[in-house]
Amino acid sequence: MKLPPVIAIDGPTASGKGTVASLVAEKLGFHYLDSGALYRLVALASEKQGTDLQNASELGILAKRLVISFKNGQILLNSENVTQAIRDENIGLRASVIAVHPEVRQALVGVQHGFRLVPGLVADGRDMASVIFPDAVLKIFLTATAQARAERRYKQLIAKGIPAKLDDLLHDLQERDARDSSRGTAPLLVADGAKVLETSELSIDQAVKTVLDWYQSKTA
Ligand code: CDP
Repeated sequence: MKLPPVIAIDGPTASGKGTVASLVAEKLGFHYLDSGALYRLVALASEKQGTDLQNASELGILAKRLVISFKNGQILLNSENVTQAIRDENIGLRASVIAVHPEVRQALVGVQHGFRLVPGLVADGRDMASVIFPDAVLKIFLTATAQARAERRYKQLIAKGIPAKLDDLLHDLQERDARDSSRGTAPLLVADGAKVLETSELSIDQAVKTVLDWYQSKTA
């Protein structure tokens, strides 16, 4: 049986891949997987439970038992609405620490595969092309310079009324890049056959259009 097509979009923090991926999904009428949200959910749940960030086996069990639902843009964890709570910068940092553990990553494989439904899926994360959907029809590594990404994150936070400092954001995202790229399991990398999309100088619309053009040329 032929599985529905997947467009895999990987990249570093604050590269805009979430925005681009969800818009591409909307244009194509595809499902959308924000895999980072799953790691953020584990991070939040582990914080609530007071689980040690280095306790890989307990974190793996916790990740397996999470009751998660994505409905109308809202994310529920054990029926509590955590859509905003998981976006906290501290939860992002915590997510990148727990994401290092193979036990946690393994526990989230099934739920990610579950998003692959007709007519297709756009999946964003760090290891979509390399590990979770290696047969993706289109693989993209979406990136921008650290400075451009820090500025984007800064504007996002300020627009939401959340106080932020550009220097701190730049430092945090460089720390997160280093951890995501250097880990032993499923590191952030340009997967075999992936196309690099450098967005420092591109608008969101231009990035979305590029992805759609690439997809069309793959499927034509
Ligand atoms: O929003 P941002 O790009 O900062 O992060 P995210 O995509 O929400 O992911 C949060 C953290 O989860 C990342 O820093 C990664 O360490 C981890 N992650 C991962 O390891 N694998 C994925 N497929 C997605 C996220």
